[in-house]
Amino acid sequence: MYDVEMIDNEYSRLEFKKHQAIRQLSINEDSLIMIADRSDESVYQSILDLKEKLNQTFQECKKVVRERTPYRITQRDILIQPYNSFFLEEAEVKRLAIQGRLLSEYEQPVYQKIMNERSGLTLLDVGCNNGWKTKMRFSNENFKKIIGIDCLRPLIEQAQKELEDNVFSFYTCNVMDTDFTENLRQIMRQENLDTFDIIHCSFLLMHTERPDDILKNLRPFLARDGKLIVIEADDMESCMFPDSEGLFQKFLEILLNDPYAGKRTMGAELPQLLSDNGYTDIHCECSKVYSSGSEKEKKEQIFETFCSYLPEDLLLLRKQSKLYQRDWEWVNQNFNKLHKQMTNDESTISMGIKIYTCGGETYA
Ligand SMILES: C[S@@+](CC[C@H](N)C(=O)[O-])C[C@H]1O[C@@H](n2cnc3c(N)ncnc32)[C@H](O)[C@@H]1O
Repeated sequence: MYDVEMIDNEYSRLEFKKHQAIRQLSINEDSLIMIADRSDESVYQSILDLKEKLNQTFQECKKVVRERTPYRITQRDILIQPYNSFFLEEAEVKRLAIQGRLLSEYEQPVYQKIMNERSGLTLLDVGCNNGWKTKMRFSNENFKKIIGIDCLRPLIEQAQKELEDNVFSFYTCNVMDTDFTENLRQIMRQENLDTFDIIHCSFLLMHTERPDDILKNLRPFLARDGKLIVIEADDMESCMFPDSEGLFQKFLEILLNDPYAGKRTMGAELPQLLSDNGYTDIHCECSKVYSSGSEKEKKEQIFETFCSYLPEDLLLLRKQSKLYQRDWEWVNQNFNKLHKQMTNDESTISMGIKIYTCGGETYA
């Protein structure tokens, strides 16, 4: 590996950083996707410029194939999707804390039921971020060991510094790595653990490319009578009344196309995903977060959790396509109005949040 700071001219240094920031290239049916780290604004800007150049070449290639061969290239565009580093941003960490408080009333009964007054339990929290939620949710005498893992080292370093004790330990570990199973086994050897009584996976699958692989890889780590708890968004169930101008519906539409928001319908796919990957005894414990009447604070939390990041996302996305530019303009014009409608006494809001529990007992 090169040390980028050793490169002594500015141009080459930027070029090098740009290539480092492009983490992955993939192809789906309608686009070519570049997964890029957006944490450095000047590097990100040069990736956007690169994307423009690539797109011109790509459109010319499409034309040549169309005019000179019987074939067609079906992909329309080159898109940039974010690499996870936005989870490091302060605003996102704050938003997750508000989301944690909002969801607590829905999650706690599920955790209580699963813990069922047992003691000496072990728990793995996958995608634990800075460990805040792990600590808030599971600081009680039911547990003898709790391991939090996340792929982002700075978050884990913060958790290690602020939250580690006899019960809580945090490790940098990426569930998508090919050697994930071996890495987790190594952590467990270090901690003297064979399996986990509870595996907790909250808002992780919607941010990953291959949720199937994650579920498959985690199952062998569940104890025979252990439980997996999965929490994911499901905007198929999200709605607001009244919405006479359709502001909320339009907001959901924009959110669906926001790659930074993850896959907003992941919750609806959970039963199939869990059963396809060998989980049994699958239960939906919660399907939506709900607020009506004068619950001002809860409505503010809902707005903060689900809507607050949209302007920021579109500010970055609008450079990518005309569609995002139009969405950005819409959000600029309607964001305050949407906030007012969502938080006033007349509104009734449901946001689809699925909490599933299941066992992994078919594992031989
Ligand atoms: C939306 S946050 C959810 C955080 C926390 N679980 C919660 O419910 O508030 C998703 C977290 O998953 C982590 N993550 C994403 N992909 C991951 C991967 N492949 N391996 C481990 N962690 C990952 C991110 O870094 C981020 O901290």
